Amino acid sequence: MPAGNTITVAAIGDLHVTEDSDAPYRDLFAEISRAADVLLLCGDLTNFGKTSEAQILADDIRACDIPVLGVLGNHDFECGQPETVASILHEAGMTVLDEQAVEIGGVGFAGVKGFMGGFGRGELAPFGEPIAKAFVDEAMNEARKLENGLRSLRTERSVAVLHYSPVCDTLEGEPIEIFQYLGSARLADAIDRFDHVKAVVHGHAHHGTYEGRTMRGIPVYNVAQFVVREQFKRPYALLEI
Ligand SMILES: [Fe+2]
Ligand SMILES: [Fe+2]
Repeated sequence: MPAGNTITVAAIGDLHVTEDSDAPYRDLFAEISRAADVLLLCGDLTNFGKTSEAQILADDIRACDIPVLGVLGNHDFECGQPETVASILHEAGMTVLDEQAVEIGGVGFAGVKGFMGGFGRGELAPFGEPIAKAFVDEAMNEARKLENGLRSLRTERSVAVLHYSPVCDTLEGEPIEIFQYLGSARLADAIDRFDHVKAVVHGHAHHGTYEGRTMRGIPVYNVAQFVVREQFKRPYALLEI
């Protein structure tokens, strides 16, 4: 993969691996390894953040022969041990992005889980009760980590990898009442500071829309596997970056 040429990036979110499954992504990862140069996993990798679920996915990641990068999702936090989930996946060879960006084949990758908080007029402000401020702090902190990761990149092209959505466009199809729980515009504010971001991938919105854009026009793809399957009859997206 010489720097300067485009690379093919596969992206899939919301794997939701359960503990009774048997090599659920083995064949799919083999197919993706033949079709792409890099595989991005966009969170909700496990169903409940259980050690046993992470180990099942780790075995499938070991069978993948292209670089695997990604972020955790809210489901990976459910058992209160996201560090354990991340370390099991890391030991299997996955780079768990979280502030630390990486470069592969001349393309940069920065990622965070992200958080909720809403968009535009509906964005929750850091006002009033301490717990409301703490909630907004979490969204701001995720955006800050993403910004730092993107700022550290020296590549001309990069991809931002998220679980929560940075825009409303890719949430269309979900009930409007829950949009504010599906993402945060603060993530898009961070992304739009950088000319080198060529694409954003996220998951979480299982019933959303495949493609959208940030205010500055950077393409955003909802790669939740259920959304991508509707679009392409396969559960992963392929992007030329
Ligand atoms: Fe999910
Ligand atoms: Fe999620």
